[in-house]
Amino acid sequence: MQDLLDSALARIAAAQTADDLEAVRVEVLGRKGVLAQLSKDMGKLTADERVARGKFINAAKQALESAYDAKKSAFDHDALAIRLDSEWMDLTVPAPGVPPGSLHPITQIQWEIEDLFRSMGFTVLDGPEVETEFHNFDALNIPADHPARDMQDTFWLDGGHLLRTHTSPVQVRGMEKLGPPLRMIAPGRVFRNESVDASHEHTFYQLEGMMIDRNVSVGNLIYFMKTLLTAIFKKEVTVRLRPGYFPFVEPGFELDIRCLICGGPGCPVCKQSGWVELLPCGLVNPHVLRKSGIDPAEWNGFAFGLGLTRLVMMRYAIDDIRWLQSGDLRFLRQF
Ligand code: PHE
Repeated sequence: MQDLLDSALARIAAAQTADDLEAVRVEVLGRKGVLAQLSKDMGKLTADERVARGKFINAAKQALESAYDAKKSAFDHDALAIRLDSEWMDLTVPAPGVPPGSLHPITQIQWEIEDLFRSMGFTVLDGPEVETEFHNFDALNIPADHPARDMQDTFWLDGGHLLRTHTSPVQVRGMEKLGPPLRMIAPGRVFRNESVDASHEHTFYQLEGMMIDRNVSVGNLIYFMKTLLTAIFKKEVTVRLRPGYFPFVEPGFELDIRCLICGGPGCPVCKQSGWVELLPCGLVNPHVLRKSGIDPAEWNGFAFGLGLTRLVMMRYAIDDIRWLQSGDLRFLRQF
């Protein structure tokens, strides 16, 4: 019996790891362990022998348990020390910080154009994205029954408000607020209830421009548009001017540029036409001036609405408009 106990104690002492110790515990203290063996033939013993055996078993149990506990707490202590060591950190080291993002290509081009127009004496104005029907349509010579309202599929909101379908309402706000003479641009986000494909988004960006003064001519308009396009593309781009209809300008034009994605033969972005509509523009319709309290006998002006989103697509040869709002970092990190 003493030999059995001694060899069990020796095995506990020999355990090298917590796992070893656990295996030894099952063998020695478990249901089939040493103590169980010692109790097995108790029934065959005399009363005196049984008392002696009982005492021995109790003493053995205590010896084994305290040997086990001592060993176990040594392993636990080591494990804790290792963990504390590996999880240690220096709280005085400065935090690494959040990696900086970058400006969206639309913002970049917008800021460039703002700088250009500021240098030519234009003010940069901002307007609300939720607009009144008056500012988005009526004041721009588009009354409720006018077919031109159907040109722009509108997201209507409760209470007669809407998501602005273009940046032109900021022209109206500019005229109301500042009066003539006026040189303003208004970059911003606009919304149309359209189905989305490679060249159409429900949400996109325009940059509106307006100049009101005495004796403004189509020549002035063309001068500013050429200056704008040369600054943006930093090279000659082929343009064409064709008549375009917008109720708030008269005469109205569409300024198209040769598609810079395909160079002319046609692709999804230019809808196979080789040309991209970039700059609708014209001389401000006298009705529009009058509605904003400006006397058309004394003042006139030009206005244009640059498609900022299209412009970015042309400049960087992006063949699908959906990339711009995708939030995809693989796309954004290229700028
Ligand atoms: N607001 C017009 C549109 O979004 C564009 C435009 C602006 C046309 C200014 C002429 C002058 O369709």
